[in-house]
Amino acid sequence: MTQTQERTVALSGGVRMPLVGLGTWQLKGNRGYEAIRHALDVGYRHLDTATMYENESDVGRAIRDSGVPREEIFVTTKLPPGREGRERKTLAASLKNLGTGYVDLWLIHWPPSRESSIGTWRELLAVRDEGLARAVGVSNFSTAQIDELIAATGQAPAVNQIPWSPASYDAAQVAQSRERGVVLEGYSPFKRTRLTDPVLGGIARAHAVTVPQVVVRWHVQHRIVVIPKSATPERIETNFDVYGFSLSDEEMSRIDGLSRR
Ligand SMILES: NC(=O)c1ccc[n+]([C@@H]2O[C@H](COP(=O)([O-])OP(=O)(O)OC[C@H]3O[C@@H](n4cnc5c(N)ncnc54)[C@H](OP(=O)(O)O)[C@@H]3O)[C@@H](O)[C@H]2O)c1
Repeated sequence: MTQTQERTVALSGGVRMPLVGLGTWQLKGNRGYEAIRHALDVGYRHLDTATMYENESDVGRAIRDSGVPREEIFVTTKLPPGREGRERKTLAASLKNLGTGYVDLWLIHWPPSRESSIGTWRELLAVRDEGLARAVGVSNFSTAQIDELIAATGQAPAVNQIPWSPASYDAAQVAQSRERGVVLEGYSPFKRTRLTDPVLGGIARAHAVTVPQVVVRWHVQHRIVVIPKSATPERIETNFDVYGFSLSDEEMSRIDGLSRR
């Protein structure tokens, strides 16, 4: 496996998405800008924002000022609830705030009502076909809700962004997503983890890393995208520093075993 293959996952349609990105919820204003700049300086090439986070302009400014070419950064934003019929206007506002001509991934942030879900999904597919989003997907959708989109359009979301952590590990959900060609992207990896857990602590000590690094690495080895958020420079660095060690199969199974599902 090349380094690019190891650190990215291929979405349907061929776009490659870095497995580790920076979550930017609550990274707003100057403090947010500084955190995002720092992340880009230390090597992050994937930023997760949303219209609801009200920080797209901070993300855009950080990208421009970083000196990293736009095409080297994978940018996700999300359509908020209640925008049925105004999808394009919302994306146009996102692009204006970000100061970019396209996003890499546009997600439906939360499932719309059953009646409007298909219409919204068709709008996302159309903007993808026009090149305004390189890939489109969903967030907080169940497998049944994804199946409704596939049944109506024949096209599966490239990604489903959902809460994920060792405690929420669910092998059946991983399998269902893979069968449909949907890449799983986990959010709130730390908030949903007991960072003092003795199993995670023992594994971290064995590799001379931190528990958050073990949690991020566990996602990467499962090929599940992970987007830890931090405003703290040192944490931004360590959360991304997960390619200097690897978890054994036995360690992966012990972490899977922390699932409470
Ligand atoms: N699609 C959705 O509905 C949805 C919902 C929630 C989140 N998200 C996305 O997922 C991203 C991540 O989720 P999240 O922000 O909810 O939570 P998270 O990444 O699990 O946790 C963030 C918290 O953990 C702390 N932290 C970060 N690194 C740490 C470390 N190495 N050691 C100890 N604490 C650490 C942060 O503190 P400091 O910042 O003070 O360092 C912050 O309080 C969001 O930013 C957003 O992009 C999406």
